Amino acid sequence: MLHISRPRTVTTIVELRDVVRDWRRAGDLVALVPTMGGLHEGHLSLVRTARRRAKRVIASIFVNPTQFAEGEDFEKYPRDEVRDAELLANAGCDLIYAPTVSEIYPDGFATNISVKNITESLCGTHRPGHFDGVTTVVCKLLNQAQADYAVFGEKDWQQLVSIRQMVRDLDMPIRIASSPIVREADGLAMSSRNRYLSEKERKIAGKLNRALFASADHIAHGIDLERVLEACTKALLTAGFNEIDYIEARDSANLNLIHTLEHGKEARIFAAVRLGQTRLIDNVPIERTGRAG
Ligand code: PAF
Repeated sequence: MLHISRPRTVTTIVELRDVVRDWRRAGDLVALVPTMGGLHEGHLSLVRTARRRAKRVIASIFVNPTQFAEGEDFEKYPRDEVRDAELLANAGCDLIYAPTVSEIYPDGFATNISVKNITESLCGTHRPGHFDGVTTVVCKLLNQAQADYAVFGEKDWQQLVSIRQMVRDLDMPIRIASSPIVREADGLAMSSRNRYLSEKERKIAGKLNRALFASADHIAHGIDLERVLEACTKALLTAGFNEIDYIEARDSANLNLIHTLEHGKEARIFAAVRLGQTRLIDNVPIERTGRAG
């Protein structure tokens, strides 16, 4: 059996920068894949995307406390460094950066990066402070690694759009790449949180993506958008989801709410639903067909 050695793990900014400096001196492009660990195939596809862009790939693993609101799952968020390192080795990662909380937020830390507008809808409404936590930590990770590229998953579409906005607004010298959602056999978007689902909930969870794809198809064929989304909400509640945080159609680029499809603009359906104790998010494109209005 082929044995692939685990990538080196560093925990401090100084060590991280030493490695990156050597790579840069050798003329290598560097890509960063920020993660919170609890890795699955979705994260590994980000590493593979990173590999296509750069010779050297860093994965950061940091369960960022500031993006979890009071009462959320910070304490129980999956942590398994050994398994994560093995998966990363097989996906072609060169270096793991696993800082401590005090490395990222030393005593006296007082800065907050807040992207307006884009973060004020969808998950921003239901998870106060979440996106400030995300953009602040991502800004720090990007500054620390000084990579050429950073790669994020499209499942967290609102996060991706917010990070692109931050990078543009703050003139950060990095290119942001994205990677499509990786789905289980029944279409459920892969997520570290899927492991919270009971067997019964897991069966129900697979219905979310099917309802969203069917709704996107109806809208693309010209059926009234509001009616489709209302029917989708009802169907999901009937299927066993206990709460719908939102199901909305929005412009993919600026996340403005849309009421009809417009030519030349990409739109997606965004959803966040609760199933038992688990919150699931997903999004699907509305692919215009010749028949749409
Ligand atoms: O998507 C995630 O896993 C996190 O939000 C990120 C980007 C690593 C920031 O903590």
